[in-house]
Amino acid sequence: MTFIVWIGVIIIIWILFKILNSTDAPKINGLPEAPGWPIFGSLFQLKENHYFALLKLAKRLGPVFQIRLGNKRIVVANSYDSIKELWIKNQFSLISRPMLYTFHTVVSSSSQIFTIGTSPWDESCKRRRKATATALNKPAVQSYMPIVDIESYTVINEILKECEDGRIDINIIPHLKRFALNTTLMFTYGTRFSSSFDKRLEEIVEIQAAMQRFRSISDNWQDYIPLLRLFPAKSSEANSYRLRRDHYLQILLDSLKKDIANDTEKPCIIGNILRDTTAKLNENEIKSIGMSLLSATLDTIPANIIYGISYLSSAHGQQIQERAYQEIQDVYPDGDAWEKCLVEERVPYVTALYKEILRYFTINPLSLPRQSISDIDYNGVIIPAGTLFFLNAFAGDYDENHFIDPYTFNPERYLGDVDSTPHFAYGAGSRMCLGSHLANRELFAFFIRFISAFRILEPNDPKDAAILDAIEANQTPTALVAEPKPFKCRFEPRNKKVLESWLEISRKRAENDEHSMRD
Ligand code: HEM
Repeated sequence: MTFIVWIGVIIIIWILFKILNSTDAPKINGLPEAPGWPIFGSLFQLKENHYFALLKLAKRLGPVFQIRLGNKRIVVANSYDSIKELWIKNQFSLISRPMLYTFHTVVSSSSQIFTIGTSPWDESCKRRRKATATALNKPAVQSYMPIVDIESYTVINEILKECEDGRIDINIIPHLKRFALNTTLMFTYGTRFSSSFDKRLEEIVEIQAAMQRFRSISDNWQDYIPLLRLFPAKSSEANSYRLRRDHYLQILLDSLKKDIANDTEKPCIIGNILRDTTAKLNENEIKSIGMSLLSATLDTIPANIIYGISYLSSAHGQQIQERAYQEIQDVYPDGDAWEKCLVEERVPYVTALYKEILRYFTINPLSLPRQSISDIDYNGVIIPAGTLFFLNAFAGDYDENHFIDPYTFNPERYLGDVDSTPHFAYGAGSRMCLGSHLANRELFAFFIRFISAFRILEPNDPKDAAILDAIEANQTPTALVAEPKPFKCRFEPRNKKVLESWLEISRKRAENDEHSMRD
C-alpha cells in the first residue's frame, strides 16, 4: 500500500514539475538550453544585467541557445556571426515582433496603438513602416538638416553661456535631451520647446522613460508568468502613464491639425501625411508613427551623444579629441566644418568615432525582440515558426572573434575598409532601425560641431568624472535603452571669437528659416 502511495506521489510531483516547466513552445531539439527553475525559468539569472548574463551563458552553452523565461521559450543569439546568420540571412523569417502582456495589453489596452518597433508584422505595420521609411530616406533626411543646425546651435550656445570658459563643471544631460526631443518634434509635428526646463518637456521625458521600463525585457515578469497578472499594482501604474502619453500625443496632433487648417504649419512628416489625401493611413496609424519617432529618438540619440561626450572628457578622450580636431582642420582648413557637416560627411575619423560610440556603448543591448513567421534551419537545428528571438547586440558588438580588443574604445577600428554590418547598435535585417541614417547624420554633425567648438575636459571634482566602462556606466541595465549615469565635465572654447561667429550665422539662419522657433 505505502509503495503505491509513494508511486502516486512521485507521479503527481512529476506531472506538477512538467506543468510548471511547460512553455508556450516545445523544447527545440538540438539547441543547448540554459538551466532554469520551475515557473520562473532563467528569470533570476537575468535580473541584474540581462545582456551580460546572457553573454556569460553563451560562454558555457555556445553562441546560440534556448532559454525559458517563465512560460516563454526564447532563442538568443550572442555572437557576430550567429546574429548575421539568423537576422540577415533569415531576415524574412524574422520579420515579426512578439505581443507582450505589459506593453500590448496594459500600456496600449484601450487605444491599441503600438509603435512600429512593437508591432507584429501585418498589413498595417507594412504601411506604417513604408511611410516612415520614405520620410527617413536620404533626401528626406537632408531636408531635416536645418533642424539639426538650429538644435545643435541652441545646445552649444547654452553650454557656451554656462561653461565660464571651461572653469566650471557642467551636467549636459538636460540640454541634450531637449536637443533630441526638439529635433524629433520639429520633423514629426513641426513644433519645439524653447527651454530645457519646460514643464511639457519634463512630462514627455518622464513618460517616455516610464514607457521604456514597461518594455524592459527582464523587468516585466508578468509578461512571462501569467499568475503575476493577478496582482494589479504594475498594471495600474502602466495604465496611468498610458493615459498621460495619449494626452500629449493628442495635443501634438490636434495643434498640428489646427496649424494645417490655418495654413501655418511648419514642414514636417505627420503634416505631409495628413495633407496627402492618397495616404492610406488612419488616425491611429498616424499616431503610431508619431509615437514611434518620439520614442525612438528621445532615448537613443541623446544617450549616444552623452556617452560619447563622457568618453571624450576622459584622459584617453583627450587624445581622441585632438586627433578628431586635427582631421577636421585638415579637411576644412578655413573653418567651414560648422557649415559643411550639415551637407556632407567628409571626416572619416569623426565617422569612425560615432560608429565606435554606437558599438562600445550599444545602448539597446538586447535590441528589440523578434518573432519568426516561418521555420529556420540553423546549422541543422529546425527552429519552428512562432519562436521568440533575442538579439544580444552587446554580445555581438563585443565578440572577440570579430572585433580586435572589443573592450577598448578605439575609433580606428572603423577606418579603412569597414564591414557592411559595422555593429548591431541598430539591430539587423528586415526590421532594422528605420532612423539609422538620420541618427548617423545627427551624430556626425553634432560631434563635428562640438569638437570644433570646445575642448571637453575632465571635471574639477573627480567624484563627478564619467564612468568609462559601458556596463558600469549604465544606470539601469535592465531597461530597454541604456541610460548614462550622471557625470560632469568642463567645456573650454577653443576659440571663443570664432565660435561666436559660427553661432551668429546659425542664429540668423534660425530666425529666417521656415523651421524657426515658436514658443
Ligand atoms: C542612435 C540612435 C538609434 C539607435 C541606437 C536605434 C536603435 C534601434 C534598434 C536596436 C531597433 C530594433 C532593430 C531590430 O529589431 O533589428 C530600432 C528600431 C527602430 N528605430 Fe531606431 N535607433 C536609433 C534612432 C532612431 C531614429 C532617429 C528613428 C526615427 C526617427 C528610429 C526609428 C526606429 C523605428 C521606427 C524602429 C522600428 C523598426 C521596425 O520595427 O520595423 N530610430 N532602432
